[in-house]
Amino acid sequence: MTAKERFYVTTPIYYPSDNLHIGHAYTTTVADSLARWHRFAGRDVYFVTGSDEHGQKIQRAAEAKGITPKEYVDVIVASFKHLWEKLNIKYDDFVRTTDERHHKAVQAVFQKIYERGDIYKSAYEGWYCTPCETFWLENRLVEGKCPDCNRPVEWVKEESYFFRLSKYADRLLKYIEEHPEFIRPESRRNEMVNFIKSGLEDLCVSRTTFDWGIPVPVGEGHVIYVWFDALTNYLTALGYPEATEKMEKYWPADLHLVGKEIMRFHTIVWPIMLMALDLPLPKTVFGHGWLLFDSEKMSKSKGNVVDPLVLIDEFGVDPIRYFLLREISFGQDGNFSRRALIERTNADLANDLGNLLNRTLSMLNRYFDGVVPAPAAQPTELDQDLVAYASGLPQKVDALIKDLKINEALASIWKLVGKANKYVDERAPWNLAKQEQRDELGTVMYNLLETLRIVGLLVKSFIPETGAKIWAQLGLEDIAGKNLDDAAWGLLTPGIQTRKGDPIFPRIEVEKEEEQPVQKQQVKREEPKTAQTPADSPEGVLIGIEDFLKCELVIAQVLEAEPVQGADRLLKLQVDVGDEKRQIVAGIAQHYKPEELVGRRIVVVKNLKPAKLRGELSQGMLLAASTPDGKLEVVSVSDAIPAGSRVK
Ligand code: MSP
Repeated sequence: MTAKERFYVTTPIYYPSDNLHIGHAYTTTVADSLARWHRFAGRDVYFVTGSDEHGQKIQRAAEAKGITPKEYVDVIVASFKHLWEKLNIKYDDFVRTTDERHHKAVQAVFQKIYERGDIYKSAYEGWYCTPCETFWLENRLVEGKCPDCNRPVEWVKEESYFFRLSKYADRLLKYIEEHPEFIRPESRRNEMVNFIKSGLEDLCVSRTTFDWGIPVPVGEGHVIYVWFDALTNYLTALGYPEATEKMEKYWPADLHLVGKEIMRFHTIVWPIMLMALDLPLPKTVFGHGWLLFDSEKMSKSKGNVVDPLVLIDEFGVDPIRYFLLREISFGQDGNFSRRALIERTNADLANDLGNLLNRTLSMLNRYFDGVVPAPAAQPTELDQDLVAYASGLPQKVDALIKDLKINEALASIWKLVGKANKYVDERAPWNLAKQEQRDELGTVMYNLLETLRIVGLLVKSFIPETGAKIWAQLGLEDIAGKNLDDAAWGLLTPGIQTRKGDPIFPRIEVEKEEEQPVQKQQVKREEPKTAQTPADSPEGVLIGIEDFLKCELVIAQVLEAEPVQGADRLLKLQVDVGDEKRQIVAGIAQHYKPEELVGRRIVVVKNLKPAKLRGELSQGMLLAASTPDGKLEVVSVSDAIPAGSRVK
């Protein structure tokens, strides 16, 4: 048996100086989707992410809170892991730079390069950007500030160890020239080549003015510069410096995914470290663009970050993953907005994919009692066209993913969805049914169901929940255990009983007047942090009392209750909140008869922004909880408490 093809992919390791935002979620979602796809295509995948926990910035942040740096990072790293879980990120290893194994790896790297004579002691005097943990030459500053983040730099003067980057400049240029796939996309390769040609200075790789870092093994009082420490994580995950099986199997990495502003570290410092260690260089470093908000980079300091957890809670995980992967041309900057997210979800997920599944299974129920028919008729040209495109699609997607053309890969899958919707209109099964052309009707239905089976398989690496939902409604099992070969045309077995369910993506309704301001409302402004994030908190985040007080909980008396036309889960309530009458729409129709609620005093969130559900305005939200077997109970109080009383 030939050895499986390997794929080692990494994300940058994130600074736990604060919680992550949707920009960080972007890189990790891309890495996770690639890892899942390559696994699905039968490759031996290793996917690593982690946290970059040392450095002056973290030490200062911890000091400001009066806790130790380790206490500080533990809390935030737990929130990273919580976010990755919510985003359905399945990594193989999570490297914390405070791990003992990482200390060993970094010290071994330092020692080895030192012994080789490529690290030497001298003194550093120059500019330092603490938020970016980067040294800058005077002539690279822009108006005296950090050219990457535009924040003030500090003058630093200390005894330091230096790494001989300059010695390797020519060798690196030659390598880049001979390996066009090493730095991608091409525009960034040109940028890096120009940077190297403009002259490399030796890099300062130790600091003495703080101690939150890995000690230099050969020099008292020095800690290793945080980037030298961080880059080594890609080796730590494989067990370096031991000659492990993983080192043997997965090094060199196939792909380091990084944001464009940290390309210099990954395509200059990191390869030179590897050259000095006599290790092969990663095959590709891909510098992706930024997720912008109103055309500006999202960042804590600008106060324009979007919290992915809030979005996941509101829209579900797959719409967020899909948006990130589909909307942004991989490599370029892309804009995030709530409106774009809703439009993308409604157009591609609800209308195109969700609707195809729904209408196909409705017709199947009507014409074949929900059982998959055999494709008995001679195929027409329209049938052949659909089958031909679907048959070639798995390999096409594989080629696009290998070439990191993620949004094009998704577009090619959605082209099949579009073709299938058109095929329904053109083949008009309702006419075939009227004319009692059973064989032809069976063939059309089979082709649609087989298309959906394949689409489920092809999308599952990108939007895992959706793949599973499609298969469940098709009455198929074990999508998780299936691979690319299972996406070949014709493997759907006639006779299977399908199980049509609710629409997999209900359309999101947006009130016209709300559309503009809402984009901003979801943006979390930075506030002084009192919140801590312990590992054992179910939501991963503890809030301060001031956060709780933002939520206006009041007692409301239910005056009237009635069902919402066309929505079997919703009830429409008229409630008295003390100073006014409000309408609240709640998803409780399967648990309460309207009359059971009239007169009750319930708890509502009064200052929730209004929303429209199935065309009905809802001005608040009631509180409820579920029993272990799923029965919902609305939280209520006795008649002793008047409507409008604040719950505190
Ligand atoms: N700790 C270093 C990386 C060390 S890797 C050996 C670091 N951390 S970071 O937390 O500041 O950023 C991690 C990654 O998030 C970077 O690749 C960065 O480009 C990415 N992003 C941060 N904001 C982003 C957007 N708004 N959009 C897309 N990516 C963004 O740098």
